[in-house]
Amino acid sequence: MSDPQERGAWSSKIGFILAGAGSAVGLGAIWRFPYYTGENGGAIFTLAFLICCFFIGYPVMIAELTLGRNTQKNPVGMFKKLAKGGGWKWLGGLCILSGFTIFAWYSIIAGWVVGYLYKTAIGTFSEVRDANMISSMFDQFSASGVTVSSLHALIILMTAFVVYRGVKSGIELLSKLLMPLLFLLLILLAIRSITLEGAADGLKFYLYPDFSKVSGMMILKAMGQALFSLSLGMGTMITYGSYLSKKENIPVSAAWITFFELLVCILAGLVIMPAVSAMGQSYTEGPDLIFKVLPSIFGQMPGGYYFGVGFFVLVIIAALTSTVSILEVPVAYFVDEKHWSRKKAVIFVGFIAYLIGTPAALAHGASDFWSNLAGIKGGFFTIISTVFGDISLSIGAFFIAIFVGWLWGVEKATTEIKSEENGITVSEFPIKKYWSFLIKFVAPVTIAIVFGYTMWKTFIGL
Ligand code: TRP
Repeated sequence: MSDPQERGAWSSKIGFILAGAGSAVGLGAIWRFPYYTGENGGAIFTLAFLICCFFIGYPVMIAELTLGRNTQKNPVGMFKKLAKGGGWKWLGGLCILSGFTIFAWYSIIAGWVVGYLYKTAIGTFSEVRDANMISSMFDQFSASGVTVSSLHALIILMTAFVVYRGVKSGIELLSKLLMPLLFLLLILLAIRSITLEGAADGLKFYLYPDFSKVSGMMILKAMGQALFSLSLGMGTMITYGSYLSKKENIPVSAAWITFFELLVCILAGLVIMPAVSAMGQSYTEGPDLIFKVLPSIFGQMPGGYYFGVGFFVLVIIAALTSTVSILEVPVAYFVDEKHWSRKKAVIFVGFIAYLIGTPAALAHGASDFWSNLAGIKGGFFTIISTVFGDISLSIGAFFIAIFVGWLWGVEKATTEIKSEENGITVSEFPIKKYWSFLIKFVAPVTIAIVFGYTMWKTFIGL
């Protein structure tokens, strides 16, 4: 995609929105959002998440797309071009590093989904009704190092193949067709889940905020999740913006992408939370949550076998349209800045991501050392997915907001957003005032306070 001939080549407005939504909608919504919600107090977390999406995520998405379209570059190249010296290219470097690392751990979970597709397809869950048994089946699965590592490799290979061949033809078309199916299936599953016996508790947990659960860490996680699920803070939207034509209306496209993403998050919560209480599982199960709950839902609906298989296929595709957008960032960097061939860049990044990911893949029971590292549940996996997945994205988004709001400046950004040429405006920008207030003040100040406070509490502990 960083082939200059392909620049600006999203085929149409809807093509771009779907590509952006394809990046955004993925495991972040279907797997991570439910388990973060479960771990961080339910409805109150969802509320904090929504607030962060509106006041931080959406304005930062506009900023990233604008930077990308203006410079037609990857994050490092973009800062080199616009910032002229200073430490800004290091921020670009952080984006690239996050790209490697997020790709490394994200593809482990995508590998689990492939494993679960296989298990569902061969009927492993067909006869099992006991929720505890389903739960221990997952523990066994995630602790089998060889299987999990092989599936991890498989996802990296599939993503590498797509990124190497170019994203347009295959996967984009596929995601256009399958995205509506994913919505439909989630709605059906939500209905099944809400009508399960014992679902009321889960619904209450998900819909009635408990204000006693507010904490710095909870808000940091909500902020991290907002950035993560909207693919912000590491340059994916900068890179995607660099393929965007001057005709497109950035704020409107960004609004659609945000809307689709939120819809999937909210639906995924509606599928999982009621089922957690109905199955007597624990909300704070962590990364295992959806894998311990979903097979039970499928087991208790007519045609559940087909729903199960269909669901996991769709989630794999949703995950692939996201992994592609993650891998694309470091690859675009090596191609543009280091003049590597696309093939070399893809092989290098994929290989390193596999190495970084391996200890994380073993951190779910396969290796005691990696599973309990630093006394944290989920050990190495939890550590890298928090550092590169919440913290690094918050840092990235903070500096992108500062850069666009104060250094490059709201006026230049506005000119780019409106694509003014010879006094003719292509896109109106009615929310300019609102956006500039958010990007200059609300986003950076909120991130700084939440981040500073949480780091202070965690490491200094007062
Ligand atoms: N947003 C994707 C998801 O929710 C993951 C993703 C893609 C991402 N590109 C990103 C996360 C860039 C952070 C930064 O599944």
